[in-house]
Amino acid sequence: MGARVGLESVTQSFANGDGGRVALVDVSLDIAAGEFVSIVGPSGCGKSTLLDLIAGHTRPTAGRVALEDADVRGPGPDRIMVFQEHALFPWLSVADNVAFGLRNSGRSDADATVAMWLAKVGLTDAAAMHPHQLSGGMRQRAALARAFAMRPEVLLMDEPFSALDAPSRDRLHVELQELWRETGTTIVFVTHNVREAVALGDRVVVMSSGPGRIMGEVRVKLPRPRVVESERVVALAQEARRLLDAADQLGITAPRTAEDSHVSI
Ligand SMILES: Nc1ncnc2c1ncn2[C@@H]1O[C@H](COP(=O)(O)OP(=O)(O)O)[C@@H](O)[C@H]1O
Ligand SMILES: [Mg+2]
Repeated sequence: MGARVGLESVTQSFANGDGGRVALVDVSLDIAAGEFVSIVGPSGCGKSTLLDLIAGHTRPTAGRVALEDADVRGPGPDRIMVFQEHALFPWLSVADNVAFGLRNSGRSDADATVAMWLAKVGLTDAAAMHPHQLSGGMRQRAALARAFAMRPEVLLMDEPFSALDAPSRDRLHVELQELWRETGTTIVFVTHNVREAVALGDRVVVMSSGPGRIMGEVRVKLPRPRVVESERVVALAQEARRLLDAADQLGITAPRTAEDSHVSI
């Protein structure tokens, strides 16, 4: 089952040559256990930084990041990241890639778990193949199987489908929604594609850059599985796009509150 994630007034600065760069300013976000939240925003608005904070790879400069009621103090197997580049080990077979984390954590049921997850993502016949022998879509499927096999409470996805061709991406959108429904994992899905964000999320959090902050959110109450071509997805994506445009026009001035810009259907 998924865990609740909370960010409370999080500010994140990075030291650099000329004093420091603020990546995120005053970001507050509550994600319910088992919720699927999409985060959309332009390049550099702090989306990956936000995932790193939840993953525990980065500690906030100010504010608090919590999993259930405990502060996040570092990485753990309860939070797993999936990247745009699949990050599979090239020297291991698909099955061994999926097994890797399980065996490391001493799971005696590793073989059965691997077989089950390979079947769920349609890679049973590719079990003995190596990553370079797979298509981009198959590699991301293997990465998904590896992540879900660890039974994380929170799955952190950083533009995982951005490098795929449209048909592969469409198929993975449907499959991911199905896996999410089956597992109840909390998913935080980062993308710069507004339609993808709407198709996947229960809620789309819209961020702006300079520095990164939350501009507002769009709640998506459409039946699943959804696809990016759906008319209602496209219409809601326009709402989210308006928030992004408002951010552009505001430049770096004060954001509207989440309530001001909340859109619901
Ligand atoms: N480790 C780091 N050191 C210095 N600056 C960083 C670091 N990580 C991110 N940044 C800066 O923080 C901002 C947000 O980056 P990032 O979270 O990667 O944005 P996004 O994922 O939305 O493209 C950018 O300006 C980036 O250059
Ligand atoms: Mg990024």
